[in-house]
Amino acid sequence: LYVIHIAAEMAPVAKVGGLGDVVTGLGKALQKRGHLVEVVLPKYDCMQYDHVHDLRALDVVVESHFDGQLFKNKVWVGSVEGLPVYFIEPLHPDKFFWRGQFYGEHDDFRRFSFFSRAALELLLQAGKNPDIIHCHDWQTAFVAPLYWDLYAPKGLNSARICFTCHNFEYQGTAPASYLESCGLDAHHLNRPDRMQDNSAHDRINPVKGAVVFSNIVTTVSPTYAQEVRTAEGGRGLHSTLNSHSRKFIGVLNGIDTDAWNPATDAFLKVQYSANDIQGKGENKEAIRRKLGLSSADVRKPLVGCITRLVPQKGVHLIRHAMYRTLELGGQFILLGSSPVPHIQREFEGIANHFQNHDDIRLILKYDESLSHSIYGASDMFIIPSIFEPCGLTQMIAMRYGSIPIARKTGGLHDSVFDVDDDTIPNQFRNGFTFLNPDEQGLNGALERAFNLYLNKPEIWKQLVQKVMIMDFSWDASAAQYEELYANSVARARAANR
Ligand code: ADP
Ligand code: GLC
Repeated sequence: LYVIHIAAEMAPVAKVGGLGDVVTGLGKALQKRGHLVEVVLPKYDCMQYDHVHDLRALDVVVESHFDGQLFKNKVWVGSVEGLPVYFIEPLHPDKFFWRGQFYGEHDDFRRFSFFSRAALELLLQAGKNPDIIHCHDWQTAFVAPLYWDLYAPKGLNSARICFTCHNFEYQGTAPASYLESCGLDAHHLNRPDRMQDNSAHDRINPVKGAVVFSNIVTTVSPTYAQEVRTAEGGRGLHSTLNSHSRKFIGVLNGIDTDAWNPATDAFLKVQYSANDIQGKGENKEAIRRKLGLSSADVRKPLVGCITRLVPQKGVHLIRHAMYRTLELGGQFILLGSSPVPHIQREFEGIANHFQNHDDIRLILKYDESLSHSIYGASDMFIIPSIFEPCGLTQMIAMRYGSIPIARKTGGLHDSVFDVDDDTIPNQFRNGFTFLNPDEQGLNGALERAFNLYLNKPEIWKQLVQKVMIMDFSWDASAAQYEELYANSVARARAANR
């Protein structure tokens, strides 16, 4: 199959969170299975250009409509992690992707609706005929209605559209009239069975539009797929998802096991593997030294946390976990940053308060290299999310032998199984879980983890070795996507016959 991903993120060149990891990881896994995979991204000024190979501008200039005018786009092509990537640079006076950040601009709706249309225009003008166009999250959700309204009639008509929603919290709703800029007919689409937001009738909802107009709709874990079909979890879209349930499914993400491999990870002080986990201790020692934490007690458990600091992630529970870890005699390293100013300020206050403490550090920025060191050094990893569509950090942590302590929700529920839960076969048990999103719930799981670590070191070591060899690769999930794609293509061909 020929699959083109249109996305706002791709690791490691343009990554804010897990979406970037997924586009690259799924793309590579599909490529490995013999499919032709390409990616279309905005050409951000703030990309990590050192990870783009053979970047060059194409001779063609792609013209696309916006605000009723034609604008030129310069198109670049390069290779990221072995995947061909097209980068679109709009030559528009608003300099949409020349802002020093990926998201969070006042005109994000315009930036990404422009990009969605330009991406389709590129496929059309370059004569590409993919079997599948796979778009992700609200930023590229416009692709689905644009495709059927404007591009299928123009001849770009062999594709099926797959939409993956990585987080239903972000739906990109806006006044209906905003749709007109990218050439969509607001009047036609602002209807309850199309793009109209379910709770505000003068607003349109790009994620709803993609659910309605795509052939395949996925989210990133089976449990989250169930949760969003309920009134409590659906963020206003449960009824839409229920009416389109036949094409909606949860597929658990994997991780890129080449990028996340402690045996080859160049960011680690010492590489190690499940057969020989001694190197893990050396990494712990190294990070303690680097961050100025006490090294007096080798056996002091080190708890890690790497996250966007947003309410979804259970910010108050992360804060509580730091204090509770210190009370229990452990060490804590938090690597995170927040797009929410008051949360960022609050954590800066805590970071200052602890700046000379022997056992805790807060590093409040995005830092890829440090993230690898923390996965490699930590004994435990905390993920107390209020909701979590999939979550990748628990899987990465396990690959590095850091035992997850996670709240049972969404994808965490599908990937972390409590060591003490005898309803689950022993071979799958890999962490500590809790159900209630409160301090008691978290304390119970954290204390059980400390207890096992401190009092049964041999059993802990076996647990570390066991989780390191669990399969969190993309293999199974890429096979599932392949089947979804193939079935959809087959259905379309049968209907056209
Ligand atoms: P989300 O996409 O909701 O942020 P995921 O668990 O799916 O959560 O993915 C988070 C990804 O971002 C992981 O690869 C994690 O290592 C990375 N990450 C999060 N915060 C930081 C940070 N401050 N520095 C480096 N990497 C980070
Ligand atoms: C979103 C979700 C996260 C998921 C990631 C990749 O950012 O918050 O749970 O792992 O997308 O699908």
